[in-house]
Amino acid sequence: MLKFDHVTFSYPDEDRDAKHATIKDLSFEIKKGEFVALIGSNGAGKSTISRLANGLLLPDSGHVFVDGEDTTKVRTSAIAKKVGFLFQNPDRQICQNTVEEEIAFGPKVQGVDPEEVKKRTAEALETFELKGDWFPFNRSRGERQRIALASVLVCQPQMVILDEPTTGLDYKECIRIMDYITRLNKEQGLTVLMVSHDMELVQEYASRVMVLTDGRLVGEGPTNTIMKNMEILKQAHVLPAQIPMLAMRFGDRFADVYTVEEMTEAIRGGVQK
Ligand SMILES: Nc1ncnc2c1ncn2[C@@H]1O[C@H](COP(=O)(O)OP(=O)(O)O)[C@@H](O)[C@H]1O
Ligand SMILES: [Mg+2]
Repeated sequence: MLKFDHVTFSYPDEDRDAKHATIKDLSFEIKKGEFVALIGSNGAGKSTISRLANGLLLPDSGHVFVDGEDTTKVRTSAIAKKVGFLFQNPDRQICQNTVEEEIAFGPKVQGVDPEEVKKRTAEALETFELKGDWFPFNRSRGERQRIALASVLVCQPQMVILDEPTTGLDYKECIRIMDYITRLNKEQGLTVLMVSHDMELVQEYASRVMVLTDGRLVGEGPTNTIMKNMEILKQAHVLPAQIPMLAMRFGDRFADVYTVEEMTEAIRGGVQK
């Protein structure tokens, strides 16, 4: 669904020397239906990768393929139809005066039939518990995030890129948004690339993790494997989620423990023995 093939990229005002590039000779692939997390410290290049993935930025060398198509050869609007993008800050994507107009905007621009736009908008308002006549800009942070997400998903993309989707949300808002995305991923095969440095979130939702440091991938693998690889996590300046971390401290008998349920089982088992 998304493929980076030896991608190097520098911002125009940066040193053009490839050694100092923001993204350095980066290759990876995300298959249809996967839920992948991209982690790494501030400035590692995560948001830059998101912008390269939806054609907002083009590589200096190498290629980015979206659903098999080279981003330098297709129009940005064609990529936008396939890949929805939730910005780190929802206010950068909200541009209409009512929530209803905001949600209808994307499909309208894509030339979706007006009746269908109406139907999808009504469904989205209901699903995300939003009111069509709200003025988007003075709603709460969580509501604005939900408005932005609804506007992305109403276009029915094959893939979404979520850049720090839960920043500034309270726990309940966060679960609500993530559960919705998970449902689309499991039931409709929506491909998800989630940028985050919240390892609890990564442990809970992603099945594979890519670790980025200074524009390079330093690790990649199933979430459970990466989560207990202190060497790699250190390079990304993150700590494991709490349950896996506790499991590592408890030793071998806890080697397969990643969730609260598994931890409870393991402790109970130990007590009974
Ligand atoms: N628009 C820009 N112009 C110039 N440099 C930028 C721009 N955006 C990001 N950078 C630089 O590129 C590097 C990677 O940034 P970014 O992709 O935003 O990292 P992350 O999302 O992992 O925090 C940083 O050194 C940052 O300063
Ligand atoms: Mg970022």
